[in-house]
Amino acid sequence: MLDETILKQHRQDHILEYCKMMSQSEKEQLHIDMDRIDLDEVDKLYEDVYVNRKTIEIADDVEQINYDIKENLPEEKLAEYRSLGLSAIKEGKFAVLLMAGGQGTRLGHKAPKGTFSFNDKSLFERQAEQLNKLFEETGTPIHWYIMTSDINHKDTLSYFLENNYFGYDESYIHFFKQDHVVALSTEGELVLDKDKHIMRTPNGNGGVFKSLEKANLLNEMKDNGVEYLFLNNIDNVLVKVLDPEFAGFIKEKDCDITTKSVQAYPDEKVGRIVSIDDKKQVLEYSELPEGEVNKLENANIGIHAFKLDFLIEAASKPLPYHLAIKNLKQIDEDFSVIEKETLKFELFYFDIFQYANSFATLQVDRKEEFSPLKNKEGKDSIETAQQDLEANQLL
Ligand code: UD1
Repeated sequence: MLDETILKQHRQDHILEYCKMMSQSEKEQLHIDMDRIDLDEVDKLYEDVYVNRKTIEIADDVEQINYDIKENLPEEKLAEYRSLGLSAIKEGKFAVLLMAGGQGTRLGHKAPKGTFSFNDKSLFERQAEQLNKLFEETGTPIHWYIMTSDINHKDTLSYFLENNYFGYDESYIHFFKQDHVVALSTEGELVLDKDKHIMRTPNGNGGVFKSLEKANLLNEMKDNGVEYLFLNNIDNVLVKVLDPEFAGFIKEKDCDITTKSVQAYPDEKVGRIVSIDDKKQVLEYSELPEGEVNKLENANIGIHAFKLDFLIEAASKPLPYHLAIKNLKQIDEDFSVIEKETLKFELFYFDIFQYANSFATLQVDRKEEFSPLKNKEGKDSIETAQQDLEANQLL
């Protein structure tokens, strides 16, 4: 039942107007959608994340993190890391998680971002190839967890199937979906998507840990003897998926979280890894005032490893929502499809860093390890990715 008084209290009585114009089956669907929603939580989300939002300033207590620089490590040390890493991989101590639930809107590619190809080889295939190579080297297949969202789950699965899982043992690939959260108008009203459902959008990559937990995958990893979970983004065309040197570094440091970084460029659109009160954080570029960000040099490139025991403990702890305002297709009062500014709520995976007690960082050379494919043209684009792949003889 849609109770008018309750809906009014929560500024959602516009839903009743939509209802009047709906067919019986559409109304039933709307009731199902509404039953899943906790209106108190929606109010809180709107107030906390939008109405009372604050601009972030870089306060005096923000410090650089301590980090090792790969370039400064002697060859013997790197060889030692490599051998340590390969043994740990061989013993099945690592699993890999790829976050691929994003929308890729900026790239203008209408399919899952991982299907974007350079020289007929997609981003998914490039990453699968590296894991296949590690299997050849160690004889141990690596469990590969791939996070999708409602937006691209079906297409991702069919793409892997059509391509015969790129020769990867299918039973070692585990797809799981991230959660979704309601989107709101700038007045805090629920919005109907073009299929007349209450609009829900992917809850950001920070949904990853709870989704893993919900699907019982963290326990499954533990049962399989996994000790560390390596995590990476889909869109870094130079990503070295679980490279043995880094695996050795992770093993030696044995921290709750180990991360790679690169030296940030001035005004680069990347998060900055910092230390505040001895806790590590990523200050996200989209939330920082311009200019100030340049005081911070360690760029987040979305490559990390988490100790599994740490994740098992921290996965259920709360993470804050962040705000994104996007033009999204929806239905207006006359049921015509329009595009309108809409509030999206996103969790960021690195907010889990606050719960870690130990943290290590390896700063690597961006020329060899970081070239994100974000835009159609200009910076971090198809053209720059192509050039970087060529420079690394990966085309
Ligand atoms: C991200 C980082 C930023 C870092 C940059 C490096 C976040 C919040 N920010 O920024 O600190 O400097 O990468 O390239 O991660 N994803 C999902 N589900 C979602 C949203 C995103 O799986 O709901 C995945 C994407 O598919 C991608 C990754 O998360 O693999 C990063 O997300 P994206 O939205 O591309 O973040 P950026 O703004 O590029």
